[in-house]
Amino acid sequence: MKAIRVETKNGEPALVLAELPTPSPKAGEVLIKVAAAGINRGDLAQVRGAYPPPPGAPDTLGLEVSGEVVETGQGVTQFQVGDAVCALLPGGGYAEYAIASELCVLPVPKGVALADAAALPEVHFTVWTNLMDSARLKTGETVLIHGGSSGIGTAAIQLCHARGHTVFATAGSVEKCAACEKLGATRAINYREEDFVAVTKDATGGKGIDVILDMVGGDYIERNFRAAAIWGRIVNIAFQKGMAADVNYGSMLMKRLSHFGTTLRARSNAEKGAIRDALAREVWPLIEAGRVRPVIDRIFPLAEAGPAHARMAGGANIGKILLTP
Ligand SMILES: NC(=O)c1ccc[n+]([C@@H]2O[C@H](COP(=O)([O-])OP(=O)(O)OC[C@H]3O[C@@H](n4cnc5c(N)ncnc54)[C@H](OP(=O)(O)O)[C@@H]3O)[C@@H](O)[C@H]2O)c1
Repeated sequence: MKAIRVETKNGEPALVLAELPTPSPKAGEVLIKVAAAGINRGDLAQVRGAYPPPPGAPDTLGLEVSGEVVETGQGVTQFQVGDAVCALLPGGGYAEYAIASELCVLPVPKGVALADAAALPEVHFTVWTNLMDSARLKTGETVLIHGGSSGIGTAAIQLCHARGHTVFATAGSVEKCAACEKLGATRAINYREEDFVAVTKDATGGKGIDVILDMVGGDYIERNFRAAAIWGRIVNIAFQKGMAADVNYGSMLMKRLSHFGTTLRARSNAEKGAIRDALAREVWPLIEAGRVRPVIDRIFPLAEAGPAHARMAGGANIGKILLTP
């Protein structure tokens, strides 16, 4: 099968279309003929050598796909050959065929095109488990989503809006802020021109934000503490501005805050399966009702994985970038 392999060219990593063996599903796994694969920042980090695949995962890129089940391994009961699915993968999605644990597979929601469904797994697994399992978001609470126009952000804004939360979002341009508000953010904050701490305090009558989803880190760590409400929860899924920071913990103490950090990829299939079940119950109906949709920035052919990565690295995307074999 055709797949993307990372090779070194002129001392730099390059994404090269190569011929690799088609994998076979083991017990509990399905083989998916890939319609599209989603690109994630984690893939960009893996190319740089900063995010190695967990033990047992394919060393090729690609954390999510959509497509058709073409073979099932021993003991698979939840899906069968011919099913249109999307799946979270530990790797190996940038290819014509990919393997997924059946615990990480979901049907393509009604009304969503097969290829577009590749935009759903990584963002919804991540958003759900961080907002609901870690931060325990409750009905009526306010939410601040940093990086609102990212793949993750566009899913988080829509989900929170559909569940009735007042949503604030940060983004780095007028165009990105407009996109966030169109997706359901009550107020998008252009972080290059405005201070999100001041804006959210003002908009909440001084109370602050109940739950903050952060992918920025650095100086945002302390600023999140200042933006948070009493008993607020902050969850970091990345630290793009740096993992190390000089932080004043005073407001964390005085406001009884909780600060979480999680990654998804290294979790067990059983743990991912529990998140999958919650998505099927709580999020897929919202997608099928048209209240949450995949937000797709651009679709590239698989052979153009390099330019697709460059688009994400340059921060040009609003929503997800996909590859089609
Ligand atoms: N821990 C996990 O399990 C997990 C899972 C999935 C993703 N992630 C992480 O989540 C992040 C988003 O992933 P993605 O695939 O959706 O990537 P993406 O679409 O490339 O998004 C990255 C976003 O970061 C935003 N950003 C950068 N600096 C910012 C700042 N100072 N303030 C506000 N926003 C800022 C960018 O917004 P602007 O262009 O507006 O600056 C951009 O929207 C990545 O860092 C990824 O590694 C973590």
